[in-house]
Amino acid sequence: MRIDVLSLFPDFIRQCAQVGVVGRAVERGLLTVEPWNPRDFATDNYRRVDDRPFGGGPGMVMLPEPLSACLAAARAASALPARVIYLSPQGKPLTQAKARELAALPRLVMVCGRYEGLDERFIEKEIDEELSIGDYVLSGGELAAAVVIDAVGRLQAGALNDAESAEQDSFEDGLLDCPHYTRSESLGTEGVPAVLLSGDHAKIARWRRQQSLGRTWLRRPDLLEGRVLDKKDAALLAEFQAEWQAQAKKAENP
Ligand SMILES: C[S@@+](CC[C@H](N)C(=O)[O-])C[C@H]1O[C@@H](n2cnc3c(N)ncnc32)[C@H](O)[C@@H]1O
Repeated sequence: MRIDVLSLFPDFIRQCAQVGVVGRAVERGLLTVEPWNPRDFATDNYRRVDDRPFGGGPGMVMLPEPLSACLAAARAASALPARVIYLSPQGKPLTQAKARELAALPRLVMVCGRYEGLDERFIEKEIDEELSIGDYVLSGGELAAAVVIDAVGRLQAGALNDAESAEQDSFEDGLLDCPHYTRSESLGTEGVPAVLLSGDHAKIARWRRQQSLGRTWLRRPDLLEGRVLDKKDAALLAEFQAEWQAQAKKAENP
């Protein structure tokens, strides 16, 4: 997969593509991340990429011309068809399902805004989709681009080692992940649920599924709204809820 990023801070984008799982995906040739600086396409002596907004008011707006020229150069750098995304607090929220959808594309071009954002005419003409990483405002799209690069890059086939399989991750099947424990030298097996030490793989799988369901119910009940659980999952969740309620009662009246 190829990801081109239009940003006034190309070094930041370059660095994002060098670390961790994304860095490994790049090294393995599964992912290419290419930054493009709109300032390199500004034509005036000051290399201006922004100007004051029509109608007055605070802040600056990114000029459409350097962005259009930069985008044209980025598009021309590869024959792969590209979906062009503007990272924006006004976009659709990024979810794991959206990350999967984007990860299956051959190419993304992402545009990072700064200041008050991009001239609306550039958005109308060039942008296929606006994407937000949450209901808060960042000072630029670069951190949002880094989030998309990571979420999409780790889903490239071969990017994750087996041990890090993405399938059990939170949101993959609409649930949160179960808790994890490892061989701590100082804590030993203290506090580790006995089932995980039992070696009984069927029981361990059952426990993990129940924890996923229970955690989702406790922490993100919205994920369960409108979802019809099959008989097995419904029974696991009911058992979790009964245990949790019994414990809560005990804590109230010790
Ligand atoms: C200060 S923001 C502009 C906010 C804009 N005036 C608004 O209120 O919709 C500057 C840039 O940061 C990026 N940005 C800010 N918040 C974001 C978010 N939640 N998700 C994705 N990008 C964001 C966008 O690229 C935006 O153009």
